[in-house]
Amino acid sequence: MKQVVILGATGSIGLSTADVMARHAHAFHSYALVGHRNVQQMVGLVGRLRPDIVVMTDEAAAKKLREQLPEQDIRAGMEAAIEVAAAPRVDIVVAAMVGAAGLPAALSAVRSGKRVALANKECLVTAGRIFMQQAQRHGAEIVPVDSEHAAVHQALAGHDRASVARITLTASGGPFRDRDPESLQHVTPAEAVAHPNWNMGAKISVDSATMMNKALELIEARWLFNIDPARLDAIIHPESIVHAMVEYVDGSVLAQLAMPDMRMPIAYALQCSPRMESGIAGLDLTELGQLNFQAVDPRRFPAMRLVATVLHGDDSLAIAFNAANEVANEAFRELRIGFMDIVRIVEQVLEKTDSLNVSDVQQVWQLDAEARRRAQEIITNA
Ligand SMILES: NC(=O)c1ccc[n+]([C@@H]2O[C@H](COP(=O)([O-])OP(=O)(O)OC[C@H]3O[C@@H](n4cnc5c(N)ncnc54)[C@H](OP(=O)(O)O)[C@@H]3O)[C@@H](O)[C@H]2O)c1
Repeated sequence: MKQVVILGATGSIGLSTADVMARHAHAFHSYALVGHRNVQQMVGLVGRLRPDIVVMTDEAAAKKLREQLPEQDIRAGMEAAIEVAAAPRVDIVVAAMVGAAGLPAALSAVRSGKRVALANKECLVTAGRIFMQQAQRHGAEIVPVDSEHAAVHQALAGHDRASVARITLTASGGPFRDRDPESLQHVTPAEAVAHPNWNMGAKISVDSATMMNKALELIEARWLFNIDPARLDAIIHPESIVHAMVEYVDGSVLAQLAMPDMRMPIAYALQCSPRMESGIAGLDLTELGQLNFQAVDPRRFPAMRLVATVLHGDDSLAIAFNAANEVANEAFRELRIGFMDIVRIVEQVLEKTDSLNVSDVQQVWQLDAEARRRAQEIITNA
């Protein structure tokens, strides 16, 4: 029986992981569940998965949870999350916290040589070089949960990496794919999180609407697959059925298709082979009738114009790109800025960021903090 830790258990990916694990209760045991503030969600999860340990990274939430579950081993704080992710008996760590806040615990799993089912793309965006070096050094296996990267992982399996000509990620285009760009400044957070195909957490839903999500995914793919950014691109595919394509030098293109449901890539990340039933609906192409593809319009999605510079630039640019986006994304959800201001703020922070590569996590945090401060300043002074 594999021992699993879910970081970000109370979120959208965490809950889908719980669903997949419950279908294979004979194969996976929940050693630890880690949440942040959502006490009620955690109470439900504990009832379903019966973990040995529960961690709430927020101290007040841990206190509340102890009142509700006095018999349960409940720990508090990020240090406790870092510790359970490295516990010797753990086989698999699902890294599904949101944002750069998820980096220390995911890195702890990597440094302990775990199989890391990685949903938290911000880890690779901010510290891709360090993360992948540490994985290699400690023998950690990183299997992507992001559906596009899981698709690439499957299309690369058993093939010669040197024969890859191009990796293409697909993007749904989010809820504003067909909106007049002039009207986008006035869209509300509720409209932005209403994704047409996927049911996700609030931050990534807004990232999908700005296409910052695809931009972050291109940076994630660069590190995960160790590929020259010039060979990476994204196209819009409104149906979200084809998740990614790998083109080989002989012109052959391998694509992975599945209904848009995160339980598929989660099941694959927990266990690539043999494949496990994930609970998602089967794919009926005759019912769908057609699949559509179109180029990304950078006027509608300026994040995709910005990411070109970041992809080809030094680490500090990716760190600032992510940090400024986290701040601006939150400010938009709190109605402090307009929708089109998100990418504008990221661009302004990037313009003030010196270009340099990083060699340790301390440096990542310094650059992250600096970019956050700059983004806050722009918002406050607007
Ligand atoms: N949802 C998807 O379909 C999807 C697809 C691909 C990739 N991803 C990636 O997966 C990650 C999680 O996404 P999600 O949609 O599941 O997000 P979500 O629903 O917002 O859940 C986020 C999780 O992180 C926890 N968390 C929030 N802030 C935290 C902090 N400061 N410290 C520690 N934990 C914190 C939350 O805890 P509480 O709720 O208890 O506060 C929750 O468990 C993101 O990196 C996202 O880009 C998601």
